Amino acid sequence: MKLDLTFDEILTTTRAVRKRLDTTRAVPRSVIEECLELALQAPNGSNRNDWRWIVVDDPAMVRKLADEYRAAMGVLSSGAVPSVRYLSGSDPREDKLLESAFALVEKLDTMPAILIPLMPGRVEGKSVVDQASMWGSIVQAVWSFMLALRSRGLGSIWATVTSRREKEIAELLGIPLDEYTQVGFFPVAYTIGTDFKRAWRKPVSEVLTYNGF
Ligand SMILES: Cc1cc2nc3c(=O)[nH]c(=O)nc-3n(C[C@H](O)[C@H](O)[C@H](O)COP(=O)(O)O)c2cc1C
Repeated sequence: MKLDLTFDEILTTTRAVRKRLDTTRAVPRSVIEECLELALQAPNGSNRNDWRWIVVDDPAMVRKLADEYRAAMGVLSSGAVPSVRYLSGSDPREDKLLESAFALVEKLDTMPAILIPLMPGRVEGKSVVDQASMWGSIVQAVWSFMLALRSRGLGSIWATVTSRREKEIAELLGIPLDEYTQVGFFPVAYTIGTDFKRAWRKPVSEVLTYNGF
């Protein structure tokens, strides 16, 4: 079911949802497929469509991926968190971000679904032109997927920390590591409530210049 939100509201309120993911509510495959159908309308270089999308909704495999996420975060099996510096110092709500990032770890074992988009090829050793084309051919589709989720009352997080465990995740899911790059790790669930706010961002006046740097 679609929420009554304008396009601008969807653009400004699609957040990285962690604490408010409802892991008790099943997500039908049909909903994920509907969102992906929309997402795949995104542009991609030469319209090659050579992306791959893996949705993990088998509870045992979700738990294995959760283990990899924990390992990537540096969370020990005791639940203790080693001192790791994740933050950039720019967002005024960074303490909340870190708390939220670790709260997600607690929920991952029971996540209804996890999406792992794959782009063809490896970026290692590639020219900037090639890398721009590779990332640029999938990022829009992934963001469209997140917007489509939001429009239907679901949420996700764009997580790249799992790339630290790319090899282990590839082994788990049978991904040929030398042929595909994992773009990220996207838990998918209905959100607890559907009211989300605009985020803090640097104002346009601070980051925009005309006709030069
Ligand atoms: C490329 C990228 C990588 C990210 N990696 C992670 C991650 O590994 N773990 C995580 O919890 N959040 C991750 N995030 C979510 C960001 O922390 C989040 O988007 C940011 O704090 C702003 O919050 P908002 O999206 O709710 O406005 C990532 C976001 C992007 C775009």
